[in-house]
Amino acid sequence: MKQKNLKLKDQIATPRGKVGVLIPGLGGAVSTTFMAGVELVRKGLAEPIGSLTQLGTIRLGKRYELRSPKITEFVPLASLDDLVFGGWDLYEANGYEAANYARVLNRDHLEPIKEFLSGIRPMKAVFDGRFVRNLDGTHVKKSENLRQQVDALKEDIVRFRSDHGLDRCIMIWAGSTEVYLSPQDVHQSYSALQEAVIRNDPNIAPSMLYAMAAIESGIPFINGAPNLTVDIPALIELAGEKSVPIAGKDFKTGQTLIKTILAPGIKARMLGLEGWYSTNILGNRDGLVLDDKDSFRTKEESKLAVLEYILQPSLYPTLYKNYHHKVTINYYPPRGDNKESWDCIDIFGWLGYPMQMKVDFQCRDSILAAPIILDLVLFMDLAQRVGMGGIQEWLSFYFKSPMHKENLYPEHDLFIQLMKLKNTLRYFMGEEQITHFGLDYYMNSE
Ligand SMILES: NC(=O)c1ccc[n+]([C@@H]2O[C@H](COP(=O)([O-])OP(=O)(O)OC[C@H]3O[C@@H](n4cnc5c(N)ncnc54)[C@H](O)[C@@H]3O)[C@@H](O)[C@H]2O)c1
Repeated sequence: MKQKNLKLKDQIATPRGKVGVLIPGLGGAVSTTFMAGVELVRKGLAEPIGSLTQLGTIRLGKRYELRSPKITEFVPLASLDDLVFGGWDLYEANGYEAANYARVLNRDHLEPIKEFLSGIRPMKAVFDGRFVRNLDGTHVKKSENLRQQVDALKEDIVRFRSDHGLDRCIMIWAGSTEVYLSPQDVHQSYSALQEAVIRNDPNIAPSMLYAMAAIESGIPFINGAPNLTVDIPALIELAGEKSVPIAGKDFKTGQTLIKTILAPGIKARMLGLEGWYSTNILGNRDGLVLDDKDSFRTKEESKLAVLEYILQPSLYPTLYKNYHHKVTINYYPPRGDNKESWDCIDIFGWLGYPMQMKVDFQCRDSILAAPIILDLVLFMDLAQRVGMGGIQEWLSFYFKSPMHKENLYPEHDLFIQLMKLKNTLRYFMGEEQITHFGLDYYMNSE
């Protein structure tokens, strides 16, 4: 397979200099847990559990060669020491105050890095209360029109870059979930979008303005929430033209992670599904935002699609034609970030006999999301040095609703996603793809 202008193997630029990680939603639970975690790891005070880039290995060549280097030794990734954090929020709290508010990490983790976190101060946000109704922060930019807001964000980026002497930047949306928005005419081409921002079209969400500012500045953009944001033809077009990597949407953590682990197994054994009932209690600010039905609708779309794509009812009508799938999220403050999710899975086996499975996952949302951000930042930086512009489908491993090319269905099975990711790394480095075929070991033996 050939792609134009890619820089592979030793042509990939060595990651020199500092990398800015620009986060809209800088004061959120996920962002502060991510930044604090990176600093704790840098100081040798904690381990980067959950991060494929930091802990994962990759098998190369034939099984008998026993070659399984660490991913960090195989591909040229930026070092954690080179990451510099900044971004925007509509609350003025610094990183230390925001992390305390989020109540994810305990004092033992926050006190040793108090100075570091206190030095992270959000820039004024581009915000519109119509898109996130349950928040009322005032640390926001005032501009006549949306184009001026995009330009103000671009100026912030230029200033941040020069203040910290950065070589490269990555932007990642870890802001609140915006209300449901279906694609409109203004989203269909970059020229239509450009006109729309000048006349303040009501179908342009703030997250789209951040994405526009990033891509126009040549900065890779990742969307960690289920909002449309960069998943519109206009911005996909711009990212392709400027060869800027983009990826999304919605970090795959918690209940959906478990769903995309279990469902492929049920399907692999040709067991049927009668129903999958999923419910959650969640008490953080994300839970508060999702208490608004229109923000929840965005999340719901993202969570529901997963099973449909994995189970492929059109190919397996006997097993999956009429299953019931229900997902709810209940805002319940006492739990804070420590979400609890329940799944009641009604399956059937040989001759149609019913069986049940129950999963009670007492997870920590931001603890699961933080290593995803780290990996995405490092892999998107790599993608840019390789010259991979546009949608990075090989990173679908990290998302609930992976962005994909039109006319191509998304891959949701976690294990296929991991194979896709690792094969892409092998491709970058000129190593053979691993198909797990394996018969060759037996066919060629004497
Ligand atoms: N934690 C998880 O497991 C997980 C999984 C998937 C997706 N997500 C998504 O990640 C996002 C962040 O989650 P969280 O738990 O950190 O939420 P949070 O509410 O703690 O943080 C979101 C932050 O975004 C800020 N914000 C909102 N609109 C903004 C704007 N226009 N500009 C700048 N800042 C803005 C808010 O003030 C808040 O500080 C949410 O959209 C959530 O749905 C989280």
